[in-house]
Amino acid sequence: TAARLTVDPRFAIGPVRRRLFGGFVEHLGRHVYDGIYEPSHPSADEQGFRVDVLELVRELGVSMIRYPGGNFVSGFRWEDSVGPREERPRRLDLAWHSTETNEVGLHEFADWLDKAGSDLMLAVNLGTRGTLEAIDLLEYANVPGGSTLSQQRVDNGRAAPFDVRVWCLGNEMDGPWQLGHRSADDYGKLASRTAKGMRQVDPSIELVVCGSSGAQMPTFGEWERVVLEHTYDDVDMISCHAYYQEHDGDIDSFLASAVDMDRFIEAVVATADHVGAARGSRKRIDISFDEWNVWYIDRVASVKPTAIDDWPVAPRLLEDVYSVLDAVVFGSLLISLLAHADRVASASLAQLVNVIAPIMTEPGGPAWRQTTFFPFAITSRLARGEAVRLRIEAPTIETAAHGTVPAVDAVATHDADTGAAAIFLVHRGREQAVEVSIDVSGLGDVEVVETHVLHDGDPYARNTLDDPERVRPAVVETRLDNGILSLTLPPIAWAALSLR
Ligand code: AHR
Repeated sequence: TAARLTVDPRFAIGPVRRRLFGGFVEHLGRHVYDGIYEPSHPSADEQGFRVDVLELVRELGVSMIRYPGGNFVSGFRWEDSVGPREERPRRLDLAWHSTETNEVGLHEFADWLDKAGSDLMLAVNLGTRGTLEAIDLLEYANVPGGSTLSQQRVDNGRAAPFDVRVWCLGNEMDGPWQLGHRSADDYGKLASRTAKGMRQVDPSIELVVCGSSGAQMPTFGEWERVVLEHTYDDVDMISCHAYYQEHDGDIDSFLASAVDMDRFIEAVVATADHVGAARGSRKRIDISFDEWNVWYIDRVASVKPTAIDDWPVAPRLLEDVYSVLDAVVFGSLLISLLAHADRVASASLAQLVNVIAPIMTEPGGPAWRQTTFFPFAITSRLARGEAVRLRIEAPTIETAAHGTVPAVDAVATHDADTGAAAIFLVHRGREQAVEVSIDVSGLGDVEVVETHVLHDGDPYARNTLDDPERVRPAVVETRLDNGILSLTLPPIAWAALSLR
């Protein structure tokens, strides 16, 4: 089989914003404790942060990191996480049925971000708390000084404000599992009031209102409409969350997950634009795709209370071990995000370390890259300038969940300043290789600089503690002749090519 692609930088979609390559750190399982923070580990720095993990986070190339949850935030009292450590309370975390020691809080996490080279994105608790606590946290974080709360921050060791740019107004408030879950109407009113109050403190912040926890939610579409009718003038972005997994051996549908992500994004854009049109507004609401990943959610161990006295610290939760197949789907989700760079202004891979994560660690032991690490790190490094739409002619695949989908999907980026271009491709076919020819003449006189392909004879191959280097991307052979770039993509493969 064969696929013919054409790339021309004149078909630009939108800018490749660095925020598209964001991450997410939740106080959940072994993410913070025994993940990024393990004072007794041989590689721990003077603050107890694992330097081996920090190095991998830097290599991954994550721009802005959402914190501290997730479902966790809906029971979180931010005041617990600042001030002298020995005075910080131990709290029950109802979302994940654990104990939160507050050993790592806002200041420690901000220090860790400085070391990782990433920015902070904060979520406020609109589940069990309200407007006052949100504006208090904003005052603590962003006001330079002169008030009791800002002075507390200074006394706690940060003279300069944290200057947090992007704030989430709660988390997944449409989900019945959410502590303090509300109707769209109730949440929309609360989010509007809170946004207005926060802007009275700092008008320069960007605000994200909660969209749906997934396109499969029964309230999807209507939730966005009602929430945006309340908050259209108050917020900058609406969130999308999506997790994909292989169901009952249906690999074809799983491989086509990005088609679902495309439709999800386009439906939210249409709904937001409808609300804007009905209001006669010229303002445009963008998307913060602030949770996305492959997640075997059905395999999650119960987080229901087992006993009234059983509240473990940092239990092993959501520690999915990703296969090559998972990483190929994951790479295609990145293609979908780039292909909507005009409206997806920010995105956060959920999550970062140990918890549905590209980086795994063992207490006292090594840190290693999961299969999903590679498409993220490569895309984050190579995607520069403008995202560019390709013309794609490819065979199709019938899927039970997503209908007829192209066997090959792709997106490109082009940096007009340097002339550098990159092409990201996925091959969803399972049986045979596909011959791909790409007309790159529109890019001018270019040469291939780097190539990467993620594929394995065993699509279920994984990197584990015992075999952490089992899966790595390989080089793919290319030929460039008269402006036509040719390569062979094996079945179930993700690839990236850079040209200059
Ligand atoms: O990322 C894991 C969980 O998934 C988050 O806490 C929640 O927001 C979502 O349901």
